[in-house]
Amino acid sequence: MRCAAAGLALLLAACNGRQNALDPAADQAATSEAMWRTMLVVCGVMYVLVLAFLAWALWRARTRRDPGVVATGRTAAEPALERSLAGWSALIVAGLLFLSIASFVADRSLARTGPDPLDVKVTANQWWWQVEYPGERPDRRITTANELHLPAGRPARITLAANDVVHSFWIPNLSGKQDLVPGRINRLTVTPRREGAYRGQCAEFCGLQHANMALDVVVESPAQFEAWRARQLATPPPPAEELAEAGRQVFLSQACVMCHRIAGTEAGGMTGPDLTHVASRATIAAGALPNGPGGLSAWIADPQGVKPGTNMPRVPLSGPQLNALVAYLETLK
Ligand code: CUA
Repeated sequence: MRCAAAGLALLLAACNGRQNALDPAADQAATSEAMWRTMLVVCGVMYVLVLAFLAWALWRARTRRDPGVVATGRTAAEPALERSLAGWSALIVAGLLFLSIASFVADRSLARTGPDPLDVKVTANQWWWQVEYPGERPDRRITTANELHLPAGRPARITLAANDVVHSFWIPNLSGKQDLVPGRINRLTVTPRREGAYRGQCAEFCGLQHANMALDVVVESPAQFEAWRARQLATPPPPAEELAEAGRQVFLSQACVMCHRIAGTEAGGMTGPDLTHVASRATIAAGALPNGPGGLSAWIADPQGVKPGTNMPRVPLSGPQLNALVAYLETLK
């Protein structure tokens, strides 16, 4: 008994976290979780009943003196058996009907979008996420990578696209999965309720680094979201420090500019993540490394060592060049 209680406590303790479908922080995840619990209870009860009947039948067959009677003719027990079979069939039909109606209601609720949705576009790439917030004007548009910010209490209408292969967008605490398919646009509505940091994960095998395709998700108050948005819209000033300025020159004179964009500089590449505010993000390389001087140095020095197969090539840099480059990237808050 004590063991069972300890096991239950452990199970329940596992039921919260930043990547957990059973700890919903959005309306859609709450709907899916309620549906999951309903199915678990209904199917669990049915399963227990079936096993109980099976056990009873085995016990009865063993204890009966003459089991042959059942097979050969009508016995006194037969009307009772017919009644219980009819009851059993009715129970199954009722259970299936209940699950069908519950799943229909859940489906309708998931398909609904609330008023005044925030538009976000997420594009999957091998192996990172591009996140865009279209603005009313081109200069109000935000492009970032591997980090999704959402205001709590406001529905987000997320447009999902893919550039190369099929990926799957999954933030367990916020909603169910939705595929991102090349040449096709899918949509998903998420209405986050609880502020916090969550973790999304690509949920469709998409190549060598599928597991290293995570998405940091920040649900914050509308005021915090607007402050974040304002910071993202600002163009970072040229670095004041000498080392960082040298790093800027390294960035602009090396292959980095072919793939990455930094607003306010000539770097306008769009095949890799936008680095305008790279230092503001929690992780780099789609959650593969923590952001900071150490993570950035390791990633730039040997991308293939960190994420074998990544499209990021190793750019040959001297030690001082690498240090300067990292110092510059660190200024891009
Ligand atoms: Cu992208 Cu798996």
